[in-house]
Amino acid sequence: MRIDIITLFPEVCSAVLNESIIGRAQKSGALKIVFHQLRDYAFDKHKRVDDTPYGGGMGMVLKAEPIALCFEAICDQLGERPHFVYMSPQGRVLNQQLLKDTAQKYKNVCILCGHYEGIDERVLESLIDEEVSIGDYVLTGGELPACVYADALCRMIPGVLSDDSCFTEESHYSGLLEYPQYTKPSSWRGMEVPQVLLSGHHKNIEDWRRYQSIKRTKEKRPDMYKIAEISQEERDKIDNKIEYK
Ligand code: ADE
Repeated sequence: MRIDIITLFPEVCSAVLNESIIGRAQKSGALKIVFHQLRDYAFDKHKRVDDTPYGGGMGMVLKAEPIALCFEAICDQLGERPHFVYMSPQGRVLNQQLLKDTAQKYKNVCILCGHYEGIDERVLESLIDEEVSIGDYVLTGGELPACVYADALCRMIPGVLSDDSCFTEESHYSGLLEYPQYTKPSSWRGMEVPQVLLSGHHKNIEDWRRYQSIKRTKEKRPDMYKIAEISQEERDKIDNKIEYK
């Protein structure tokens, strides 16, 4: 996948996305992220990317033309139109399902970061395919949301994580929270690692992890527990508080 990010602060996004796992995945060629400075596409005589809102009111609005020119330049580079996402608190709230669908459906995704009071509505009408929010709260700009979205999306691309089972087993992917994890030492400040994890018995470990995942989901996220894919037998066990043997 290639991800293009249009922003007034490319260095904010690149500082996050060129490091660690996502940075390594870019170096390995599993994905490519390109950062675009919106100001480079302000060609009017004042080189302005924003202006005051028609009708009056507070703040500034990002102008349509620089956004359109930047997006068109990206389309030319790619030779096709990427899926165009605008980070906005008015968008669909991000979750793992949305990420799964996007990673499967699109080869190229372009992300627009808003700033100030928003963007000219005509960009939304004519260019944007989808608005995505990272939660019901408002940030000062779209850079942090774009980093969150791009990071979570990249993790779903085969070859980005060292082993595909990493993301299929973890919290949210399967609709369940992840089971508890422990590392050395087996005894720490009087607290022991559950015996089954030290047993080397793979089937018992798998059963214990599944049981813990379901139990935690019920305790911490009852909303997810209600709709999770769990057999009736498993639900009965948890609901009747039958502890793992
Ligand atoms: N821009 C400002 N707040 C946002 C949010 N919650 N999600 C996505 N983009 C935003």
